[in-house]
Amino acid sequence: MAFLDKHKAIETHATLLLVLSLLVVSIGGIVQIVPLFYLENTIEKVEGVRPYSPLELAGRDIYIREGCYVCHSQMIRPMRDEVERYGHYSLAAESMYDHPFQWGSKRTGPDLARVGGRYSDAWHVDHLTDPQSVVPESVMPKYGYLLNAELDGRHITQIMNTHRFVGVPYDEAMMENAVADFMAQGDPNSDYAGLQERYAKANVSNFDGQPQLTEMDALIAYLQVLGTMVDFSTFTPDASR
Ligand code: HEC
Repeated sequence: MAFLDKHKAIETHATLLLVLSLLVVSIGGIVQIVPLFYLENTIEKVEGVRPYSPLELAGRDIYIREGCYVCHSQMIRPMRDEVERYGHYSLAAESMYDHPFQWGSKRTGPDLARVGGRYSDAWHVDHLTDPQSVVPESVMPKYGYLLNAELDGRHITQIMNTHRFVGVPYDEAMMENAVADFMAQGDPNSDYAGLQERYAKANVSNFDGQPQLTEMDALIAYLQVLGTMVDFSTFTPDASR
């Protein structure tokens, strides 16, 4: 057939084949990518998701610095075994304020996307200080030194500013009160009403049980908020999108 003869011409000329392949692939790529530029938002907004409070954000930086993501994922896939073990599958909106996201790629330890509220603060202190004291067969390293690293919120305003620069909606009141909110969250005797107004349901606690604020406080504040922002008893996925 004449049509097939023409195809032979393409298949026997490497350069022509390459040029035409590139053309076909680029059309495919454009069809997939261009509509995304015209969508205002590709992430469904979900009630309850808010930016991290200053102390949680500092804890997140410690989580990244210590390489916790090397052994822990934060991404529950919508498969039965995962949902039964860890809870509701992760929503895109739950990591919309994560820069960079912490989905991870390997699970030496369990997924942490919904670890918030699962254990007490004291359990986390024991576990992070000496994982084998609570889970004898654990291969997790010890992080007790975090108890000795004091924090004063010196850089928190700049860190929040950086997150604001990449799109996290920290408003003026949040920026002005950054250091005060940072200190208040680790002290149940402080005046934390403003903090909880700015960051809904923020956990206020003396996380590590010591009078001074430390990296352990920040890390536990972060762990305790993971996966707790969305109320799944009332959440219904928006099927129209
Ligand atoms: C070498 C791998 C490794 C690293 C690095 C690591 N973990 Fe783990 N983690 C584990 C393993 C294995 C377990 C399961 C046994 C246990 O509970 O200790 C675990 C368990 C946990 C648990 C309990 C989860 C649950 O649902 O029971 C938390 C919380 C946790 N890790 C937090 C952290 C944090 C925070 C860091 C970083 C400071 C970290 N891990 C670093 C391996 C690791």
